[in-house]
Amino acid sequence: MYRSHTCGELRLDNQGAEVTLAGWVQTVRKFGSITFVDLRDRYGITQLLFNEALNPRLDETPLGREFVLQVKGTVAERSNKNPKLATGDVEILVNDFAIMNSAATPPFTIEEETDGGDELRMKYRYLDLRRPALKRNLELRYKVNRSVRNYLDTLGFWDIETPFLIKSTPEGARDFIVPSRMNEGQFYALPQSPQTFKQLLMVSGYDRYYQIVKCFRDEDLRADRQPEFTQVDCEMSFVEQEDILNTFEGLFKHVFKDVKGVEIDYNFPRMTWEDAMWNYGNDKPDIRFEMKIQNLKTENKVYAEVLNGVDFKVFSEAETILAIAVPGASEYTRKQLDELTEWVKRPQIGMSGVVNVKCNADGTFKSSVDKFFSEDKLKEVAQFCGANAGDLILILAGPETRTRKAMSELRLEMGNKLGLRNPDDYKPLWVIDFPLFEYAEEENRWVARHHPFTSPKPEQIELMNNPARFGEIKANAYDIVLNGTEIGGGSIRIYQKDLQEKMFAALGMDKEEAHEKFGFLLGAFEYGAPPHGGIAFGFDRLCALLGGQESIRDFIAFPKNNAGRDVMLDAPSAVDKAQLDELGLQHKNS
Ligand code: AMO
Repeated sequence: MYRSHTCGELRLDNQGAEVTLAGWVQTVRKFGSITFVDLRDRYGITQLLFNEALNPRLDETPLGREFVLQVKGTVAERSNKNPKLATGDVEILVNDFAIMNSAATPPFTIEEETDGGDELRMKYRYLDLRRPALKRNLELRYKVNRSVRNYLDTLGFWDIETPFLIKSTPEGARDFIVPSRMNEGQFYALPQSPQTFKQLLMVSGYDRYYQIVKCFRDEDLRADRQPEFTQVDCEMSFVEQEDILNTFEGLFKHVFKDVKGVEIDYNFPRMTWEDAMWNYGNDKPDIRFEMKIQNLKTENKVYAEVLNGVDFKVFSEAETILAIAVPGASEYTRKQLDELTEWVKRPQIGMSGVVNVKCNADGTFKSSVDKFFSEDKLKEVAQFCGANAGDLILILAGPETRTRKAMSELRLEMGNKLGLRNPDDYKPLWVIDFPLFEYAEEENRWVARHHPFTSPKPEQIELMNNPARFGEIKANAYDIVLNGTEIGGGSIRIYQKDLQEKMFAALGMDKEEAHEKFGFLLGAFEYGAPPHGGIAFGFDRLCALLGGQESIRDFIAFPKNNAGRDVMLDAPSAVDKAQLDELGLQHKNS
């Protein structure tokens, strides 16, 4: 028997018990003739006391950090208790021990906060995973997984696996491709999601499907994106949008309660995509705080009368002018305002500056454009923006898309500065009525906003015959957003062959191409496809948010870095020429 208890288990109740523990040496402290060791495993830390009698053996085989150690001893009450440890009332009086393995000195400290940089910790991920911070994240991930499965199980969903070696599934990213040895010159693609398979399962009659599944997307990486990530992928038949929203709102409430003890006893708010863009500047609004965007002028249409007749070129020549009223920030210093200007000028934001209007507590106004705006005019601006005395109004002007995006970022930044984005405050919402299409300027064509299997609003199907009006068509598509992050998205699907063909045609695919790429789906739609719809959640993102963090990396046991590399494996890497030959491949530059 390697151990009778774990290192997180023993309490005063166990006093006097003879126990065997095994774990890793966290610290060794020598006090005169006795030695204290903290022994750690997944469950916790227990203090060991080696008395004088064991010194000759400790001298012969000294203990080092991260050694794997087995001890036998007696549980005793500690004289100096440690309230920070669950086992802090006791220690083990060691009477025998065995070093099960030695360890090289770890390249960083295995503690809550470590001294290791990102790359180093990625390289030695198996050591980083010993730290309590990461252990907690993986535990949370496991609990979310279990909670999701329990909920879906009670509703009769079946977990059905779908293949990884497939043909491309369009989800808007590049595919990872895999060469086929048995079919030289041909390639599989790794699924960007199981989208078409789950729809085929609906055709097969498995009307409640789910899967916690890996998806692969070759796209630029960010804190909330990994090239391989996990989705909770779901699909249902004989449902309308309302059924899906209710079912999965239930799932979220269940998970929040089960994993975090947070009860949300109201219906999640629903916001149209247009309202989200208008009031928050993006389609994943953080509604933990107000500070809505004020549209003074958009796409050359002036909404704020006060702008008319003001001879200020930055405004008169701008396509769009947006503002936010930042509560209680009127006393921002010159330095703080300069910092904000620098912030909006960063390349990621891309604005040339920010105009500010201070709505002073005494009812006076002061702005960075006093030359162009009289105090009366400033007051009108403030009124239009719904600003109160004590607020600071920030105004951005420029081209529509860039300015709206910049203002949405500035709003979040001010939310951060004012401490309005508490990670323990969960404010989910549904964003609905997305556009069916969006225009891809670079490709000069319409592309599907969600994916090509999403159905248009039935009353707008007619418009699919008229490309000039594609921009007006709304989809039966929805996203679930939590605290400014899109954690899931889905839609009611097209299930009629002719409508699906029409959709492919609208996306610029001729019949032949559509059949070559999606013949299997169009074929299936000829054999009794039921009305169906579904949704997929970003499982890593959900876990990160429930763990109070924005980056998903530390909620994945073995993640990739921002360049898509597994630093520990040193992958991707070159392969032998023989391997390439077998696949009939040759590298262009070799
Ligand atoms: P979508 O592409 O919106 O929908 O993806 C669903 C959710 O997956 C998460 N996600 C990611 N998480 C981490 N890294 C990534 N690279 C990444 N990309 C997406 C997001 C997103 O909301 N088949 C459809 C779903 C459907 O229609 O049912 C789909 O994949 O949280």
